[in-house]
Amino acid sequence: MEGKQEPKDGPHFVGKKAELIEAERSFRTVEGRDVLIIYRDGTFHALDSWCYHSGGPLHLGDIEELGGQLCIICPRHRYKITLASGEGLYKGNPGQKPIKWLSKGVKQRIHKVTEGNGDVYVTLLETGQFDSDYYQGEEGKVKREKAAEAEKDKSPKVSKGSP
Ligand code: FES
Repeated sequence: MEGKQEPKDGPHFVGKKAELIEAERSFRTVEGRDVLIIYRDGTFHALDSWCYHSGGPLHLGDIEELGGQLCIICPRHRYKITLASGEGLYKGNPGQKPIKWLSKGVKQRIHKVTEGNGDVYVTLLETGQFDSDYYQGEEGKVKREKAAEAEKDKSPKVSKGSP
């Protein structure tokens, strides 16, 4: 962010703690990477902001607790992603109750959040490879923008004129 001297690899200042708490979810571009910062139940989480499945906008997703884990539900195809670890969850016993949630493994890259003196910082965690990496690159960006356009075309047209 402007006016702050930061090491290249972070931690990167992403906002004042009070503002991020009030916002609950905040979108930031850190070192060219789009990151979603979520404040929920007293904890900050940071993860890649574009869904690993097809680049859906996670900042518009609902947050629910599934199998004891807080998850963001992608608004595009309703995939479930844990906030703490970036794991994709699926129903292990479809059609049965209670639902058993199982992990597909870590699909969404998460990042480290730290706090100090009322400021919040994100350090990008760049080791390993995760499916969400694709939608941070140029090719993935083109794909997700095309998908967003297609969604717009499908949404019902609402007349704004007077009768
Ligand atoms: S793009 Fe997120 S579930 Fe398909």
